[in-house]
Amino acid sequence: MISSFYEKIVGTSPPPEPNEPKILCVGLICLDIVQVCKTFPVEDSDQRCIEHRWQRGGNASNNCTVLSLAKTPCEFMGTLSSEQHLSFLQDDMRKYKINFAHCPMLEGAGCPTSTVILSLTSGSRTILHHNPSLPELTFEDFAKLNLEEYCWIHFEGRNVTTVLSMIKHVETYNNSLKNSTQNDNSTDSFHLPITISVELEKSNEQLLDLLPYVDVAFVSRDFALFRGCDNMSETLRSIAQEAKSGATIICAWGDRGAMARTPDGTIVQSPAFPPAKTIDSLGAGDTFAAAILHYLNKIKFSSNKSVQPMKTLSEKLLHNEDPETKSNEVKREIKQNHNIESLEQSHTEFIDSVVLQSAVTFACRVAGAKLGLKGYDGLDKIFKELQKV
Ligand code: FRU
Repeated sequence: MISSFYEKIVGTSPPPEPNEPKILCVGLICLDIVQVCKTFPVEDSDQRCIEHRWQRGGNASNNCTVLSLAKTPCEFMGTLSSEQHLSFLQDDMRKYKINFAHCPMLEGAGCPTSTVILSLTSGSRTILHHNPSLPELTFEDFAKLNLEEYCWIHFEGRNVTTVLSMIKHVETYNNSLKNSTQNDNSTDSFHLPITISVELEKSNEQLLDLLPYVDVAFVSRDFALFRGCDNMSETLRSIAQEAKSGATIICAWGDRGAMARTPDGTIVQSPAFPPAKTIDSLGAGDTFAAAILHYLNKIKFSSNKSVQPMKTLSEKLLHNEDPETKSNEVKREIKQNHNIESLEQSHTEFIDSVVLQSAVTFACRVAGAKLGLKGYDGLDKIFKELQKV
């Protein structure tokens, strides 16, 4: 009622309840110009496409689209170019009820753009990305946030030095909570520490510097291959050596599904759930990550209220201990130590092997369903169905 009234008056959907903590996704927003082709084009040929559309893109922006369709309050934070395509991107965020109130708007640089070729024959998505040097978010932009509004902050791995300062800022906030709860004994869910996650996707060695400071790390197949790992267990083993103890590491690998390592070193995995026909694989990895964020964030709050984990999927998949991953605690030399106090402690007590197994299976199902959809519309129904189980 309130919501339709608001829509009539203001023309957009209402913002989330002011005191409902949000997941903040920090990273890129760009314009995706999508060309749907029967087959991938031959170089220097002239062929007709089946469809053409504009779509809002960028990993963090896509994460928000999916979180919002899952009905998790979320906010996007990244720089917006005031030069081109601004209203397209803003209108689309409004349409998906994504808060973007704290995005700085910059003049003098164009909007990052991707030309994306989707091949219906192979299901591939080929991305040609151009960033006309739009400046990245600064620490000063981030420091303006009221961290009390957030329960989880997810960073797209980029802009490493600045992101490290942002993480340090969040840790200082988390430590201040610890001190105040010690004093008043409260377990109020709005004052839970902010969980910090990061995505390691692009082939950039420097991204490893973020690992010692994050509670949850998402590692893409591309990043794993770049690091010389050619399967998921090898990736988890290798990344665990760089992460802080107690971190959760998650690796998705397209048609091989996903594998993850709990804070205590247990390995869980899920197969992929591909649709009969892949229609659109653009953003499938972003969908997987957002589905994990949605699931684990729900668990974080329900476990704080002593409620049982979300009953989504009954199937139990392969569970095994990986002694190698558990015992090897040798850490790579940390190149950028920002004296972050929580180097050795994570905020992931709510993640055990049962929870992580369900989260990974849930996210593989959501990402599989996305492959059969054009864009992200329709994922709201998928979330509803999976959460009914
Ligand atoms: C998909 C995506 C696209 C964007 C590109 C940027 O993961 O975020 O939306 O064009 O990657 O690298």
